[in-house]
Amino acid sequence: MTLGAKAPAPAIGGAFQRIDGPLKVSGGAAYTSDRSLPGMLYAVPVGSTIASGRITRLDTAAAEKMKGVQAVFTRENIGRFFRVGAGTHAILDETRPPLDDDTIRYYGQYVALVVARTFEQATAAARAVHIEYDERRPDVRMALMPEHPASIDSQRGDADAAFAAAPESLTLDVTYTTPIETHNPIELHSSVAVYDGTNFTLYETSQAIVNHKAVLVQMLGVPAENVRIITEYLGSGFGGKLWPWTHSLLAAAASRKLQRPIKLVVTRKMMFQNVGHRSNTQQRMRLSALPDGRLTSLQHDFLNHASRTDVRKENCGEVTGYLYSTPNLRVSWAYAHRDIAPSTSMRGPGAVPGLFALESAIDELAIKLNKDPVALRLLNEPTHDESLNLPFSSRHSRECLLLGAEKFGWAQRNAQVGSMRRDGLILGWGVAGCAWNARRVPAEVSVQLNADGTVRVASATQDVGTGTYTVIAQMIADVTGVALERNKVVIGDPILPPGPFSGGSMATGSLVPAVQQAAREAMQQALVTAAAQQGPNSPFAGHGVETLAFGEGRVYRKGTPAAIGVPFEKILQGAQVGYVAGSGKAAASGTEAGAPKLSMHSYGAHFVEVTWQPEIARLRVSRVVTVIDGGKIINTRTGRNQIEGAIIMGMGMALFEQTHYDARSGAPINSNLADYVMTTHADAPAIDVTFLDYPDFALNALGARGIGEIGLAGFAPALTAAVYHATGIRVRDLPVKIEDLLASQVMV
Ligand code: MOS
Repeated sequence: MTLGAKAPAPAIGGAFQRIDGPLKVSGGAAYTSDRSLPGMLYAVPVGSTIASGRITRLDTAAAEKMKGVQAVFTRENIGRFFRVGAGTHAILDETRPPLDDDTIRYYGQYVALVVARTFEQATAAARAVHIEYDERRPDVRMALMPEHPASIDSQRGDADAAFAAAPESLTLDVTYTTPIETHNPIELHSSVAVYDGTNFTLYETSQAIVNHKAVLVQMLGVPAENVRIITEYLGSGFGGKLWPWTHSLLAAAASRKLQRPIKLVVTRKMMFQNVGHRSNTQQRMRLSALPDGRLTSLQHDFLNHASRTDVRKENCGEVTGYLYSTPNLRVSWAYAHRDIAPSTSMRGPGAVPGLFALESAIDELAIKLNKDPVALRLLNEPTHDESLNLPFSSRHSRECLLLGAEKFGWAQRNAQVGSMRRDGLILGWGVAGCAWNARRVPAEVSVQLNADGTVRVASATQDVGTGTYTVIAQMIADVTGVALERNKVVIGDPILPPGPFSGGSMATGSLVPAVQQAAREAMQQALVTAAAQQGPNSPFAGHGVETLAFGEGRVYRKGTPAAIGVPFEKILQGAQVGYVAGSGKAAASGTEAGAPKLSMHSYGAHFVEVTWQPEIARLRVSRVVTVIDGGKIINTRTGRNQIEGAIIMGMGMALFEQTHYDARSGAPINSNLADYVMTTHADAPAIDVTFLDYPDFALNALGARGIGEIGLAGFAPALTAAVYHATGIRVRDLPVKIEDLLASQVMV
């Protein structure tokens, strides 16, 4: 580079391709189930064929004699598992260890494990395990009645009194439901377990390797230094891979027993049974308003189902307390047990089903009051978080709505149902707002500047496939000025400094301060190294460290351009060192001394157009305009991809996705990709995504929030609002079904 050369393009904010992309598309990336190790055996679990009852007989004799079978494990011979202790900060949603007792609490619960030389042999032998049960009729009803008094999540004023005082014409009292949805990442959950007599190495499909290790250490009852979890690449997860599931323990225990590597790949059918799902929800919304549309009360009382062993809250009211201004509010939660496996986080847990209810109710209220739904939202925009009585760190939901309306052409909307046409089709337009948490979890990072000119950045985090490798490389490039392709990102192994889990849209924002600190420390060490070389040929002879600076990958004298400095690798080579290093550590957001208390969230608005052909009852999503206030966007390409993917998933939530349970057996019925309908490419509409790009410096120095979930939040209610506008049918129970729409009175 010569003096006066163009400054390098900024590393933050561009449309960068994934640095792991070439490896992935060429088949070079090793996913967990791609691992094949010498002497490896295949494990296939046996799932119960009842959902409630007891095992009365379990006969493995026939299976044990089958070709290739190495072992059949039951609770008699699998070895001991422990439970996770209180206060150990190890998270899992199914706390019962596998094969713990003879009681069956959900369909498909693992009751045995067959290990054979091939997957086919293990599968065949698993079918030959003979089991008799004392079966009870399972309760898998989706309608929920609270089993205990509701707990209050948020409360201000007197919502009951305000609602009761309002005339019926200014109130709304409706209930919305969302069904059980099952995560269906293309990559199946898998464990490849290796035990060497002392140490476990588990190749895992985990969105949280540090936690996965913490859980396995406790449940296997071994010292922490004897467990390693490796997740190099993930074929997505959507939250289903956040916390460990019991198959991981089965694989580890089998490898311990047999002293051989064990591969266990959960089948697609088991994905519907044993590795979590989004709970169904039932949400009663009560709203009252003044004639001008200002809310006088808002009540959100929600329920979700719980498994027999573990109660998990699907936190539907999370955004309700702060999304709108209202003097009177109550949010409450209750649950009811069912003979269904434990639920888990699914993209935007709580807020996503919660916003379906809240934003649908706002739309219904707007229609009842004869107000425009955008105007009604703007009118009820709060100036601060009224639930916590805190200022917002950075909130631009108003601009999301206004810009979205402009880009969509909302001003052309005729509010009358079925009134808008194009090319012989009836058009429906709908809108909804959204919000999602912005937080940081603790993160540690190490950075090495290497004598070969590369930078190694390491942290025990993982890339769900969304771009963590790439944004870490960008963060390093931003601080050091070293080109993206020279930054080597090493993640996916808990021997590295503990990094954040990939969930809650928190990984990226959590990494920023630790990466920056580690890089700056390493750069400082490069300056120290340069200043220490005071020989006659040293480039900085006679210059103290305080006179030097680091930029564009070079050490240079302050006051001179970085471009004429000395590349850091030359400094390290001259000093005969392999690398200099730095480390960074950041605590959770809001825990630093003197950190201001703020309400931190991302926001957005979705505008959706559907077309409706009443003659053949054909509904299509034709156009989506989404505006996201997600802080500073580090990578607009992977960022846009996140939002587009969320919109596609939101179409699935609104129109297709629902796991059905058989009332007799308690089994998930549509437990395959043919019967569990999801959005396909053929369904994809034109999608226009805009990022407002306001940095939220309360979160980190780049102002970057995570954006994995915000795009799904609020999408389903925008779509069902459009369906109402086209057809006159208000769907309050997702997903929208053709049967619902056949009742439409709209004629061409
Ligand atoms: Mo997300 S549900 O936190 O992986």
